[in-house]
Amino acid sequence: MSPAPLGFGLVGCGVIAETYAAALDGATGGSLVAVTDVDADLAAKFAAEYAVADAGNLEHLLTRADVDVVCVCVPSGLHAEVGLAAAKAGRHVVVEKPIDISLGAARALIEGAEAAGVSLTVISQQRYHPGVRRAKALLDEGRLGRLVEVSASVPWYRSEAYYKSAGWRGTWALDGGGAFMNQGVHYADLVCWLCGQPEVLAATCAAVAHDIEVEDVALALLRFGSGAVGVLEVTTCAYPGYKCVLRMSGTGGTVVLEDGEIVALQLEEEAAGVMDEDVAALTMPDGHRAQLADIISAISLGRQPSVTGEDGYRALKFVLDVYSAAGWGP
Ligand SMILES: NC(=O)c1ccc[n+]([C@@H]2O[C@H](COP(=O)([O-])OP(=O)(O)OC[C@H]3O[C@@H](n4cnc5c(N)ncnc54)[C@H](O)[C@@H]3O)[C@@H](O)[C@H]2O)c1
Repeated sequence: MSPAPLGFGLVGCGVIAETYAAALDGATGGSLVAVTDVDADLAAKFAAEYAVADAGNLEHLLTRADVDVVCVCVPSGLHAEVGLAAAKAGRHVVVEKPIDISLGAARALIEGAEAAGVSLTVISQQRYHPGVRRAKALLDEGRLGRLVEVSASVPWYRSEAYYKSAGWRGTWALDGGGAFMNQGVHYADLVCWLCGQPEVLAATCAAVAHDIEVEDVALALLRFGSGAVGVLEVTTCAYPGYKCVLRMSGTGGTVVLEDGEIVALQLEEEAAGVMDEDVAALTMPDGHRAQLADIISAISLGRQPSVTGEDGYRALKFVLDVYSAAGWGP
């Protein structure tokens, strides 16, 4: 007999909340049942639009018998606070990226979830791109040889209006940083997952194009445990926004990902210029849907989710190590 479907509660009905409603619509094994937001009008509108309950506040959401999993979609600096409340109430936790903005808060959330015996996953939807997973398999199987050089570029664009669209955006207090903490953290996680946690040799951060206190450009030089060196570039100034590129070279070959899609793969073990015939067909699924399916399966099977709190911690540490090397902070 298949387990009863899990009920999802959503905290924060802003921009990313729509993605959850869409991802859970028709999902196997789970559905959205209730929402809350400190903006009562927004919560009521969202609840009506998706025909789910407006819980009124977090406390009420956490006492609902039909809420098994809580999705934390509030500003980044409140992730651990809300996630911990959910864990203490015995609810599984899906927290948006970054896990939080301080390592102390992130650790408290991880420990709180462990103590409560609930699952915790940190959203990193890019990991579910088949191209990224293929690159991970190539690295893990040693087909690229020993990793020697890495280049990660996140050349995005965010307008001044974006930063003014909500009071927390672009602030140290609640965004915890700028281009790297908010946008580039996807690649902080990918780089850590694929290449290992890097040591940050040197970095610079600046606000060059926006009227914000946090950075809109972050550059860093990296060294990995394998001996590989690397370069990272994250910006929200590259109008109108370009594809993210992750290039990883090993002693046995190179793989190049553009927005997660493998656009080049050359292995010394194969004839030069030959690309595995299947890589071009690897296109991006709905990453949130894939990650929510993973947590549903993890809960029902009693296994770890594929992206854990520790993974979120490592990505956050990478971001904060860049800030530290750059002497960048509030
Ligand atoms: N994975 C992704 O691709 C992705 C994309 C966008 C945003 N995000 C993440 O999602 C989070 C939210 O971002 P957003 O763009 O949706 O922000 P937003 O400002 O549009 O929405 C946040 C909502 O949270 C509400 N809120 C604030 N404090 C609250 C509290 N204590 N309790 C309940 N509700 C509260 C606000 O009223 C607001 O409606 C951020 O951490 C961001 O990094 C992730």
